[in-house]
Amino acid sequence: MTEAVGVHGLRKVYEGGTEALKGVSLSIEEGDFFALLGPNGAGKTTLIGILSGLVKKNDGVVTIFNTSIDQDAPKARTYIGLVPQEFNFNIFEKVLDIVVTQAGYYGIPRKEATERAEELLKDLGLWEKRHAPSQSLSGGMKRRLMIARGLIHAPKLLILDEPTAGVDVEMRLGMWDFLRKLNAAGTTIILTTHYLDEAQELCRNVAIINKGDILVNEPMDALLARHDKESLETVYLELTRPQ
Ligand SMILES: Nc1ncnc2c1ncn2[C@@H]1O[C@H](COP(=O)(O)OP(=O)(O)OP(=O)(O)O)[C@@H](O)[C@H]1O
Ligand SMILES: [Mg+2]
Repeated sequence: MTEAVGVHGLRKVYEGGTEALKGVSLSIEEGDFFALLGPNGAGKTTLIGILSGLVKKNDGVVTIFNTSIDQDAPKARTYIGLVPQEFNFNIFEKVLDIVVTQAGYYGIPRKEATERAEELLKDLGLWEKRHAPSQSLSGGMKRRLMIARGLIHAPKLLILDEPTAGVDVEMRLGMWDFLRKLNAAGTTIILTTHYLDEAQELCRNVAIINKGDILVNEPMDALLARHDKESLETVYLELTRPQ
């Protein structure tokens, strides 16, 4: 099996002294659908930021498909498609242009990029909006645009930081369907979410992180079975609730 993500002894201390990650280790195999869960401030976005090269680590080793982010950051980055927690596109730029522009950062020729962007916008139900400025989209549409943009270079690993926050029930089911197909076609996916039903439904493996430490990291079924529980939510609350 190929390891998609390897993390060993990862530490992050922000300026001001917050220790966001206190020596985190985990391994994610290629093809996995992996849930990264934890309360607000646990360190999820920090971890994702380090994987994708946006946040500097203080200590530890990170490899993406066996490429160390210290030895070859640009190569490691091409493996990753990131869907960040916060919307961060130009609000005046048009939907199709946003996706095509992103392709430019990966050196994809414009014609190929446009074809691929059009396909993604169709798959994600944004075709009608392709010429609209991004500021005119609803919150749920913006989330889907972020996914289209993250996938433009056909990354082997897609990292989604709360992709379904503020998305209505029907759209959420549509997104699940889309992500399941993407995963079935071979893309490794890391998902953070506060909807535990979503993680339970979609993910094969799960890590729960709290205050910068990994509390558990195991297959979803094993975690539920070990705690003799039906729902991930009950297990999660038992593990993360302050004593
Ligand atoms: N840029 C920053 N500067 C200083 N502290 C930060 C910064 N970003 C995050 N932190 C702190 O690091 C810790 C982890 O934050 P992080 O954003 O990784 O949490 P999270 O698990 O993604 O939470 P949420 O579920 O609310 O998104 C928090 O204590 C947070 O205040
Ligand atoms: Mg976060």
